[in-house]
Amino acid sequence: MSIATPIAPVRDLQAYKSLSNDELQARINAVRRQLGPRLLILGHHYQQDEVIALADLTGDSYQLSQMAAASRDCRYIAFCGVHFMAETADILANRPEKLAERDGQRVTVILPDMAAGCSMADMAAIHQIESAWDQLAEVIDTSDVTPVTYINSAASLKAFVGRNGGIVCTSSNAKAALQWAFARTRRVMFFPDQHLGRNTAMGMGVPLDEMPLWDPYADELGGNTEDQIERSRVILWKGHCSVHQMFRPEHVAAFRQKHPGIKILVHPECPREVFELADESGSTGKIIKTVEAAPPGTKWAIGTELHLVNRLKQQHPEQEIHFLSPVVCMCATMYRIDLAHLAWSLENLAAGTPVNVIEVDEETARWSLVALERMLEVK
Ligand code: 13P
Ligand code: SF4
Repeated sequence: MSIATPIAPVRDLQAYKSLSNDELQARINAVRRQLGPRLLILGHHYQQDEVIALADLTGDSYQLSQMAAASRDCRYIAFCGVHFMAETADILANRPEKLAERDGQRVTVILPDMAAGCSMADMAAIHQIESAWDQLAEVIDTSDVTPVTYINSAASLKAFVGRNGGIVCTSSNAKAALQWAFARTRRVMFFPDQHLGRNTAMGMGVPLDEMPLWDPYADELGGNTEDQIERSRVILWKGHCSVHQMFRPEHVAAFRQKHPGIKILVHPECPREVFELADESGSTGKIIKTVEAAPPGTKWAIGTELHLVNRLKQQHPEQEIHFLSPVVCMCATMYRIDLAHLAWSLENLAAGTPVNVIEVDEETARWSLVALERMLEVK
């Protein structure tokens, strides 16, 4: 395919929106050839197929963090995912030992569309977390509480966790992270995803009545009594994923009735009522591996983001794969990353006029790194 001459001015995103996918692909590939191993395109499993096809590496949040942390030759990361993932990549790729190896040269991390956020991450702001921590300190000894933040959170929350002896977890190491925390303190404060926290802790035997839900908009103690807080083992933040909360127990029941023998496979961000009914659960990486390992003819109803389930369906015609919900559950913010934004941001990068650069400030990065390194050690 021939490579068209660059659009001038390079910064005009609108001009890219009218190009065909073939042309956009050609432009993206031209930048990939020009930058060679200095450019790493990372893609989360929820990205649309056209984007996945152009990614150098794909993975779940844990794997993508490992990839960013391990990057050697690359000087630029284009993160096809959401904002907190790009922040994490910036922190890990530019940690002090990596900067020293590169004589101080930073890896530039770009997020092709700055509007690609995570609605769950937005449900916990740093001032709310700090206020909750201060309120808890009036009732319990917070030196006996380990804060655990799901990686789906702003870097400021990860820094809070790092400063306060806590750890970052992902959906693939949440149990190990809670074990790590319980080896240190009697209690855990888990944010922002109540479902991942509850599902994981329940699996470890923590009873529901020892897991109060902290509502940041409640007047006092997150809507709890002092007694509830005193009895708590895991204080859950009232946050959730708007995509995964759409999966309902009645969807599981309908599939089981219509397709005897079907297996239900869900992401742990699903509500407890669904998670408990599932045969298997895990991160997006584990969901993929589970399907890959299953024999032909296996029937699945999968409860996670639509693009990933549709891709699994295409890749595994030897199995019968269904989407667990009758309604469309897709991550609208992940979907914002398209070929037009990718081509626009990459051509700007190649032209020396980078756009949408994600750079976490030094102090926040330093403390976030403490909590992220613990995450990478715990699996
Ligand atoms: P994974 O770490 O399982 O890929 O999950 C990321 C995410 O945002 C799920 O909603
Ligand atoms: Fe956030 Fe949910 Fe989208 Fe994952 S699927 S990025 S948790 S909104």
